[in-house]
Amino acid sequence: MRNIVLLFLFFGLVGFTTRKIVAPLNAEVYASNRTIQWFGEELYALNQELNTALSTSDRSTLQLQYRKARQHYKHIEFWVEYFYPRPAKFYINGPLVPKYDEAFGNLRIEPNGFQRIEEILFASSESIDTSELYPEIRSLQQHLVPMFSTNYYSKMGISDGMLLEMCQIELHRIASLNLNGYDATITKDNIIETKACLEGIQKVIGFFGDNPSIANKPESEIVSIVAVSIQLQMEIDSAIAAIDRNTNYDSFNRLAFIRQHIFMLNISLIDFHQVLALPWSNRMQALDLKQRNLFSKAAYNPSYFAPYNFDTTLLDKKVALGRLLFFDPILSGDGKRSCASCHNPDLGFGDGQAKSIAMDKNGIVARNAPPLFNLAYANSFFDDGRAFSLEEQVSEVLHNKVEMRSSLKEICEKLKGSDEYQKLFAEAFEGSSGATITAYAVQRAIAAYERTLTSFNSRFDQYLAGNAKALTPREHNGYNLFAGKALCGSCHFLPLFSGITPPFYGETEFEVIGTPETSDNKALDADSGRCKITKRDLHLHAFKTPTVRNIAETAPYMHNGAYTKLEDVVEFYHKGGGVGLGFNVPNQTLPFDSLTLNATEKQDIVLFMKTLSDVSAAQKQKPKRLPSFGNNAALNARKIGGEY
Ligand code: HEC
Ligand code: HEC
Repeated sequence: MRNIVLLFLFFGLVGFTTRKIVAPLNAEVYASNRTIQWFGEELYALNQELNTALSTSDRSTLQLQYRKARQHYKHIEFWVEYFYPRPAKFYINGPLVPKYDEAFGNLRIEPNGFQRIEEILFASSESIDTSELYPEIRSLQQHLVPMFSTNYYSKMGISDGMLLEMCQIELHRIASLNLNGYDATITKDNIIETKACLEGIQKVIGFFGDNPSIANKPESEIVSIVAVSIQLQMEIDSAIAAIDRNTNYDSFNRLAFIRQHIFMLNISLIDFHQVLALPWSNRMQALDLKQRNLFSKAAYNPSYFAPYNFDTTLLDKKVALGRLLFFDPILSGDGKRSCASCHNPDLGFGDGQAKSIAMDKNGIVARNAPPLFNLAYANSFFDDGRAFSLEEQVSEVLHNKVEMRSSLKEICEKLKGSDEYQKLFAEAFEGSSGATITAYAVQRAIAAYERTLTSFNSRFDQYLAGNAKALTPREHNGYNLFAGKALCGSCHFLPLFSGITPPFYGETEFEVIGTPETSDNKALDADSGRCKITKRDLHLHAFKTPTVRNIAETAPYMHNGAYTKLEDVVEFYHKGGGVGLGFNVPNQTLPFDSLTLNATEKQDIVLFMKTLSDVSAAQKQKPKRLPSFGNNAALNARKIGGEY
């Protein structure tokens, strides 16, 4: 009797759905089966809204239909993005600029899908050309068709645990993309669309409440389930209420929303997962969804980002060895410079130069030395993305004539001259060929060390984690501008603030912003960037979006060190990048218009960026001594960290 009363309470609060469906075979797929069915209904409704649009040419009706269709899409975004990431990215919610699909031989894909339709309907006030619009709508409909196949989902083995994980991933997506103007770039409906995403999650949670198998659980378990579900429901309600209070893209307090609602909702979803005793999926993914703070270091799974042969055996020893190698000038052709010459821990792992100094102090190298933080969470290296792993990157720089002018073969021979190095390699690579000092062991050790250089405890991180005093009101406002009006967060994604794209972190964005040659903003920089690697015209002057973490420590800025002050960087964006400065950059992916920021707003953005410093890892890096080379006095006198 008690059970029944409790269950009734539970259903009442979580939202009873009256529709009957076929009884599930397994209690652990009850909610997912219900979701599959509801997904079909939402998809159908979406398609109907598009059909209605196809019967009118009236602008306001079309705009209304578009918005209705978007609401349905956002309800099921968590599902579409999970099961159909590629169609979602390129054909359904694709960007407003042409893109290459690297996984498909760099196939060039023109803007299409929702965002293209949005552009036709909202970007200008001229009358709507239906001969342009209708084919776009039909093409979007075509891309929705395969999603109706329920067979597909049963093949994927979807479970209720996975479903809750999908909701958590959606929360991460909301915080790092949706709220930051990643889509809805013209309507600026991002905030109201976020409400639709939350309604989708709410619906799914309701299905869990309907699960008849809960009645069979012991009473004490039911009590806990009810308690957690009430908490979860309250979190969703209050998040939605916060949106209802203000849906304005510019003035919405996104940082407070993330901290008070997204953050807490994630915790409640984890609690719900646990109290229902559902298994966690064993899918290899970037985010560890058991973590209560989805924006912390602990939430990232480094082995997801590392190459396939990433092994963690004797990792501490490999890291310690890699650290010595990183600071050892024996690695360079002339025995004078080490990695740390250009990646100096005292300078935020950069070198403070606009472009690094070449070997023999003879001229400069092509680009600015980037800081080396959080590279454990990256999958594309160098400004043009020419290396796919840190291991590969090491080989490149060692062989580079102007950077270290050496070779892995030569280095292995030299290192074998030190008993101490021999011992260190033997210990760190025990049981593998690396024990005898191989090229790969050198690469692997340095890369293992680099992966330990994390930076995730800035004042901004402390604020997100709950310390309300960690940011001043102006810094807080600076984040809201960064992620909102100034659009920075649509390329520098929270929380890594780089271009590796949340929430799956499989791809890195390269963008064309039109960086000038120097801070006088007179001419476009000549570096062709990613185009050098891919030979594709759209990649001309495209660069990897770097992180803005530790930015206060790593001046000068950009691939060429053009700017020395953050104020100048913000001014550059404010003017509309290269195009705004009057350069000819037809493929610029940054909006061309002025950001219309006032002086205080510009300062607040700079103040916010300065809260992203955490160089605690850097300060402790320099080793006290380097391995000895027996009685070779000249070698033993080499300078820790090398010269520069
Ligand atoms: C002469 C100065 C110099 C030296 C010495 C040097 N680097 Fe670099 N490093 C650079 C420059 C400049 C770049 C950017 C080049 C580019 O993007 O084309 C870079 C890029 C990198 C990157 C890519 C970072 C990213 O965000 O994509 C890594 C990792 C790196 N270096 C590690 C090392 C290691 C490890 C060593 C020693 C084996 C080393 N570097 C030695 C100047 C140097
Ligand atoms: C269209 C994508 C895009 C947008 C929007 C964007 N950035 Fe960037 N950002 C980049 C790229 C790409 C680079 C590297 C450019 C280069 O090296 O020439 C960069 C570089 C930077 C750098 C220098 C980083 C370094 O280590 O040198 C800072 C600082 C920065 N951006 C801040 C901002 C701010 C502030 C905003 C908003 C006002 C913003 N970005 C908007 C793509 C973007």
